[in-house]
This record gives sequence, structure tokens and C-alpha cells, in this order.
Amino acid sequence: MRRRHFVTDLARYAALCAALPNEWRLTWRPSFTDDPFTLGVAAGDPTPSGAVIWTRLAPRPFEPEGGMPGTRPIVDWEVAEDEAFTKVSARGRYTAAPELAYSVHVDVQGLGADRWYFYRFRSGDALSPVGRLRTTPAAGATTPLRLGMASCQNYEQGLFTALQHLSTERCDLVTHLGDYIYEYGGRGNAVRSHRGFEIRSLDDYRMRYAQYKLDPALQAAHAMCPWLVTWDDHEVDNNYAGEAGENEMEAAEQMRMRRAAGYQAWWEHQPVRVPRARSWADLTVTRSADWGALARLWMLDTRQYRDDQPCGDGSRVVPCGDWAEPSRTILGSAQERWLLDGLGASSARWQVLGQQVPVAPFDDRKGAGQRLYMDGWSGYPANRDRVLRAIAERAPNRTVVLTGDVHSNWVNELRAGFDRPDRPVVAAEFIGTSISSGGDGSETWLGAPEQMPENPHVKWHSARRGYVIHEVTPSAWTAAYREVPFVERPGAPVRTATTWRLEHGRSGIQAG
Ligand SMILES: [Fe+2]
Repeated sequence: MRRRHFVTDLARYAALCAALPNEWRLTWRPSFTDDPFTLGVAAGDPTPSGAVIWTRLAPRPFEPEGGMPGTRPIVDWEVAEDEAFTKVSARGRYTAAPELAYSVHVDVQGLGADRWYFYRFRSGDALSPVGRLRTTPAAGATTPLRLGMASCQNYEQGLFTALQHLSTERCDLVTHLGDYIYEYGGRGNAVRSHRGFEIRSLDDYRMRYAQYKLDPALQAAHAMCPWLVTWDDHEVDNNYAGEAGENEMEAAEQMRMRRAAGYQAWWEHQPVRVPRARSWADLTVTRSADWGALARLWMLDTRQYRDDQPCGDGSRVVPCGDWAEPSRTILGSAQERWLLDGLGASSARWQVLGQQVPVAPFDDRKGAGQRLYMDGWSGYPANRDRVLRAIAERAPNRTVVLTGDVHSNWVNELRAGFDRPDRPVVAAEFIGTSISSGGDGSETWLGAPEQMPENPHVKWHSARRGYVIHEVTPSAWTAAYREVPFVERPGAPVRTATTWRLEHGRSGIQAG
């Protein structure tokens, strides 16, 4: 290139920069008066060769734009074999943007399979905390998996003590099954409903994530290992179903706007690799992840594609309304086909469904007749029986369902259908309690003990707070229920309340 041309180009570039609006301007060395890494770091969706690493620049998280100046700052990232970052395995540069809340999502590639790494970010002089990630084993490997499971962390109902304990559990992977934030309880621009103030705008959802992400226990749990995250209802609106909100007066168009805001803010704050959508309201989070040949995890979305609950979303005596209609769906037809075809095609030792709401029924009506929870799979019995039949045919006694939502612990044997009581047990459902939702909790859920004889598939139950640690080997699946006795004051210890075991290829769940 001739020197004259280079100088002309440089002058043109300078003129272009001067004419650019602020938000298109790159800031190579941003200077921060406050730490921009207040929300911590996270990794997620690991593969044999990498993972997504995440952070968000927010020097003053409760100000508009998180206290950022509206330009596009450069963020450097690096992944190393050691915590001192002397053996760097990968590094690169990312341009953060105001329209995505200055979030950073790097899909790191080229790492070795089944290994631990450290990662961090730098912008200007600011250095982020260090996070750890483990890549998954290579295809074919049956390396054991230690999997943490959490859900339902209502910030104002309790402390995240359980997450603090989880951060010391030496997990390889954590799955979070939703209700990562709650949409009610806020103020500001939020709209008043029977639950108090509910957030609905993108700015409000972002602010809510920032409030949660500031929690040191949540940050510690993320920094420990990669997470595999899905959402439930409260990331948008309590008990929403497709385009039907909880508040009946909310039109479908309004719910789509709200979904777009909630889904975008979720994406901006989670370490996820999910396909782009034409509209944020249609963001798909359904995906699978492999732990070598040991386990395939099917991460499902039972919110976005479901039909409305049949006769309200509480507990109802059935049948009611169109409850028994065979066409009614909780997965949506495309997701159902993807799952059922996949269960037949996968050769992994264990098939794992990571999803939101209880699959097993729980009849809470004493004596004759059944009263069931309409917001769970019990509100969609035809869809449940199709899935259970497919498990019975394609992956019996090596399928485990992981569930959140109900703020209590349940160990359920899943039968090849709940339409008839004599169907064989073909899978296990481990429902994990909340981290903090519902406050301190209690020994049992109201009315549960007296109803156990009418629900013989329920092996164990408790309504304390905590999380679950799953130990998975080729021959057995062990679930340890870890409980904290209180969350409304600090310092709760953690203990293992019970342990349940599933032998690969054998029907039923055993204690111990
Ligand atoms: Fe919840």
C-alpha cells in the first residue's frame, strides 16, 4: 500500500469515527473508576473441546446501562491450565455492546477433553475474578459424573446459603432447572398485580438479574464449574403457558413482548450456547449435552410451547375441562418429536431429562377421586403417557428425570404410564427443592404424609431447602439430597438428608 493512500485512509477513518454515534465507537482501553466485574463470571454448556465463558460489564449495576458509558468496550479473555495463567490454552478479544447489556459470551474452542481449566476477563486495567471449567469427556468415554442440581432462588425469601455449600461440593457440572430470578416483588416501573409489583420491561429484568448476580454465594457456585441452565416460569411470569400469562387480562401480544424482554435478559445473564432466533420471544433453549458415553442430558422447555393449563393452574379434581384431550401438549410437537426420536437413537448409558415441573402425579385428595397439580405434567396426562411409553420402549431403567419448580424434595418412581396402576416402573424422577424460595421450609409439605398411601410411587419427600448431588457411574445413579435447616438467617450447616440409588438396567429406586 502506498504511503499516500494509507494516510488518506487513516484520515477517512478518523473522519468516520468522528461522525459515528457514540454507541458504535470501540473503546480499546476503557478506564473504569468502579470495578466492571461486579456480577462475577460463569461458564456453561461444556463440550469435549470447550465451553461458553460469560461475564457482564456493570460497574454500577443499578444505574441505567449498568453504569457503562454507551460505547463498545473491548474485553480480552484467556483460558489457562493453571490458576496463575502461566500455561494459557486459548485467548481472544470480544467487543461488548450496549444493546446486549455489555454481556460477554465467548464460545471457547480447541481445549482438551475431560480437563479442568481456569478463565478470566480483562477490560482496560480491570481484571475479573477467576472461574473454573471442566470440559466433558470425549465421545465413548464413561468417566463418572458428579452433577449438582439447583432451582428456585427467590432473593427476598431467603439467603443463598445452599449455593454457598454447593460451591464447595467439587461438582463437575451443575444443572439449574429454573426460577433463577423471580419477576414479582420489585418496584420502579413494575406493574402492580395480586402478587405485588411485577417486572415486565427489559431494563427491569436486567436489573433483577444484576441484583441476584451480585450475591457472593451465587457467584461462588458459578465460578466452581460449568453450569447447564434452563428456565422455568418466573424468568418471565408465574405459571405462564406459551402466550398465556398468569394475569388473564394480558393479551397474547403483550405476553410476547414480555417473553422477549425476559428471554433476552436471561440470555444476557447466562453462560449458554443457544441458537439465534428471529425474535427474542422465540428464543429456543431446548438442547442436549453429552457427558462422554455415560449420559446424555436433554434440556427441555416445558413453558414456551405448552397449551394453557386445562382448568386453572392450581390443584384440581380431575377430569376437568379439556384435561384428558389426547392432543394437549406440554412440550409442543417439535420438541416432543426431537426428544422421543433422540431417546431411540442415543447410545449413552443414561438418558437424563433436565426440565421444570413434576412428571409424577401426586393425588392430594383423601379417599376416592384424584386432585392433581395442573401446572405440572399432571395437567397434560396424554403428553406424559406418550413420553413415559417412549421411555419404557427405548430406554427403560436407565432414564432419570431431573425436576425443580415445587420448592420441595421428592423421589418418585415413574411408571410406563400413570393411566393404569399396574404399569411397571421404568424410570426415576428426582425433584429438587428450592435454594431459598418459600423461606425456611419444613419437614414435610402440607398434607403429604397422610396422602402417601394413595401415592405409592413416591419413595421419599421433604420440604426443606437445599440441592441435590448426583453421582453417576456406568452401573449406578446415586442422588444425595443435601439440606439446610434454615435460610432466613445466615450460617446454616448442610447435611445429607437421604440417598437414593438406581441400578442401571434394574427396575425401581432403592434407599441408600
Ligand atoms: Fe420456584
